[in-house]
Amino acid sequence: MPADPTPHGATAAGAGAPASLGKGAAPQRLAQAALRDVPWEVGVAKPDAAIVVDDVTRTFGGLTAVAVDHLEIQRGGITGLIGPNGAGKTTLFNLLTGFDQPDSGTWSFNGRPLGKLSPHRVSRLGVVRTFQLTKALSRLTVLQNMLLGAQGQKGEGFFRALVPGVWRSQERENTEKALELLRRFKLDAKKDDFAGTLSGGQRKLLEMARALMTDPEVVMLDEPMAGVNPALTQSLLGHVKDLREQGMTVIFVEHDMDVVRDISDWVVVMASGKVIAEGPPESISQNQAVVDAYLGAHHDAPLTVDEEDRVLAEAERSIAQEEGTGGDVIDPERRPRHGGQR
Ligand SMILES: Nc1ncnc2c1ncn2[C@@H]1O[C@H](COP(=O)(O)OP(=O)(O)OP(=O)(O)O)[C@@H](O)[C@H]1O
Ligand SMILES: [Mg+2]
Repeated sequence: MPADPTPHGATAAGAGAPASLGKGAAPQRLAQAALRDVPWEVGVAKPDAAIVVDDVTRTFGGLTAVAVDHLEIQRGGITGLIGPNGAGKTTLFNLLTGFDQPDSGTWSFNGRPLGKLSPHRVSRLGVVRTFQLTKALSRLTVLQNMLLGAQGQKGEGFFRALVPGVWRSQERENTEKALELLRRFKLDAKKDDFAGTLSGGQRKLLEMARALMTDPEVVMLDEPMAGVNPALTQSLLGHVKDLREQGMTVIFVEHDMDVVRDISDWVVVMASGKVIAEGPPESISQNQAVVDAYLGAHHDAPLTVDEEDRVLAEAERSIAQEEGTGGDVIDPERRPRHGGQR
């Protein structure tokens, strides 16, 4: 049963806040309090859902990659999306953000259907995502990468081109915003460096910063910590929590259960394309369906070099197609951090 859509722009401190916590309460407490009485059941309604998914399926040949009956994502909280390799997490992100089309199903953001919209339109409406394999353009500078993230924010191409004054002031605004975000993510000293010279962790930071250029309401992060060294992991975690502080809704794919427990207000578990469990982090490890899914998934089997090369080549091809770059793309996770759990 979908929750009533909430007006655009509502945050954790707004419509979804329980009456017992005042508006001054920290977003984390608000998000957790809002979810406190929600039953730990697959497909359960949330008090204030930003995203609602219904009957979404995606098959590849004979394989069902995603088959989600009903899923609601609470506004203003951090939802951890977990599941063994191949569970369908990335495919679900691709579908929700317009990077892939489902075989069937509908989904909405603030009550507005998002099906059939391009990634660009989805991001302009306020839903952005980052990629498991980072999509920074190596031969552009850090700042240029940021400005790409702002594309189409205001004054779409045609009109913008007709009115250079508007175009220039927009560009100035975007540059200021990009520099401010780069400062926040401690990348400002690198603004004129080619993105190709950044470390894997810095690219993850750049991608997160770039996603924020459009002032999103919902941010979907696909393994933002993968391939990042421990020092930067803490900083990335802090940035993810900051998004919630600022009232954003975060959906976050992560394999490390300590991180998931630390950061999530709610956890959704996928296996074989389906949501098999959801609840607060403490509910998940005792859930028999979750234990079975992980045990049955051989998720510790390491990737062979051939498999890894194949996965990377596929990813590079699809990224190059999306970006039209002819392959000028960084692929920092030569080895996935989660120990070859693919
Ligand atoms: N473009 C594609 N063509 C064929 N099969 C695909 C394609 N994309 C995904 N799949 C398959 O769909 C299933 C779900 O993949 P997906 O990448 O969504 O899983 P995931 O949960 O993100 O896994 P991981 O934790 O390893 O990132 C897998 O079996 C995968 O091989
Ligand atoms: Mg994935």
